[in-house]
Amino acid sequence: IDIKALRGATNGLITIDPGYKNTGSCESAITFLDGEKGVLRYRGYPIEQLAEKADFLEVAYALIFGDLPTKQQLDKFHADIKSKAILDDDVKKILDAFPKSAHPMGVLSSLTSALTAFNPSSVNVDSEEEMYNAIVKIMGKFPIIVAWTMRKKQGLPLTYSTNSLGYVENIMKMMFQSPNEDYVVNPIIRDALDKLLILHADHEQNCSTSTVRIVGSSHAGLFASLSAGISALWGPLHGGANQAVLEMLEAIKQDGGDTKKYMAKAKDKNDPFRLMGFGHRVYKNFDPRAKIIKKAADEVLNDLGVNDPILDIARSLEAEALKDPYFVDRKLYPNVDFYSGIIYRAMGIPVEMFTVMFAMGRLPGWIAQWKEMRLNKEPIGRPRQIYTGENERNFKTIDNR
Ligand code: ACO
Repeated sequence: IDIKALRGATNGLITIDPGYKNTGSCESAITFLDGEKGVLRYRGYPIEQLAEKADFLEVAYALIFGDLPTKQQLDKFHADIKSKAILDDDVKKILDAFPKSAHPMGVLSSLTSALTAFNPSSVNVDSEEEMYNAIVKIMGKFPIIVAWTMRKKQGLPLTYSTNSLGYVENIMKMMFQSPNEDYVVNPIIRDALDKLLILHADHEQNCSTSTVRIVGSSHAGLFASLSAGISALWGPLHGGANQAVLEMLEAIKQDGGDTKKYMAKAKDKNDPFRLMGFGHRVYKNFDPRAKIIKKAADEVLNDLGVNDPILDIARSLEAEALKDPYFVDRKLYPNVDFYSGIIYRAMGIPVEMFTVMFAMGRLPGWIAQWKEMRLNKEPIGRPRQIYTGENERNFKTIDNR
């Protein structure tokens, strides 16, 4: 297919494809996904190798700039990020204005959008240099917003970035440091968090990433595009599933742990209940990220000495689904979110923060996709429709309706 020729096509046949199940929106060199075989690669590197051997910042660099960095490239990237890891004091006032009950994802998307006001130079970016500056700014500031969002929820004093720490260790310290106490990084939690962030870092043209690309295609700024992506991620059919999974597992536990009852509900077409954390638009085989996370959940809970009964509930739901014709026929397997919440909970992260952690991981993927879209000079995203409304009719004044 001559994709370049297709780019110019605006008239003629309109394909209707609700949910874009079979519609490609762009060419991309970032993430390869084979849903039938359960394969996922970032910039050509298998997800299994990256999760095992890389750290999150290296992966972020590879996604955004095309390949894994040399030590020198990584050091420069990290130094540039650290130099921007501050927030204007007025951002605190905006945070203060939210009720404590606010959902962290609402706070995260609002503050990310608000950063546009404090960093006007990051709005109209065209050159690669302007893009780079906006990228290191958001990579530096986003973890602070993530940490503040959690601390606001918990009523804890706000923390600041520590330049001597690694990227992920710094996130942990800002999130978990108790008031008036030194923070010692727990290597088990650091390794697990690194892995989770890497596994969430990109997933080609999913709902939130497509949102970032389409908002960015109007040349709205990077932070505004990211804020829109965060809103898209929030929904329970997408990133919000990690919160929904944990709430579901907890509800099953409270209800006596009868997994069969919930399996029956999930299969009942008159019941709106779905088995959260199951199924995926593209994977029609095991989600390779779920395999890695399941193993990590076992290891992390074991290493931390946490005995969480909902892990057993999750395991038995999975075992039942794997032999149930409803799930087998529809190729519904656990997705990335089925086991991730169990690890976040063991780390001491509140359930309403789970999707924020997903956003933290997805940040470099969104950035990479936005940058690729701008550098490829993609046209403004603008799908067509099939009109199904009224034919032309005459206006009636209000007393004649
Ligand atoms: N539980 C029960 N049945 C399900 C589930 C589920 N979790 N997921 C899909 N099905 C059924 C549907 O009812 C449908 O059945 P039918 O053919 O008899 O009508 C069939 O499987 C196909 O499902 P669709 O909704 O058409 O598949 P789609 O690709 O549109 O949706 C989605 C994928 C949204 C992920 C869906 O599987 C779902 O809602 N899963 C639960 C939520 C979830 O875990 N989301 C996270 C996805 S991963 C991510 O975004 C990070």
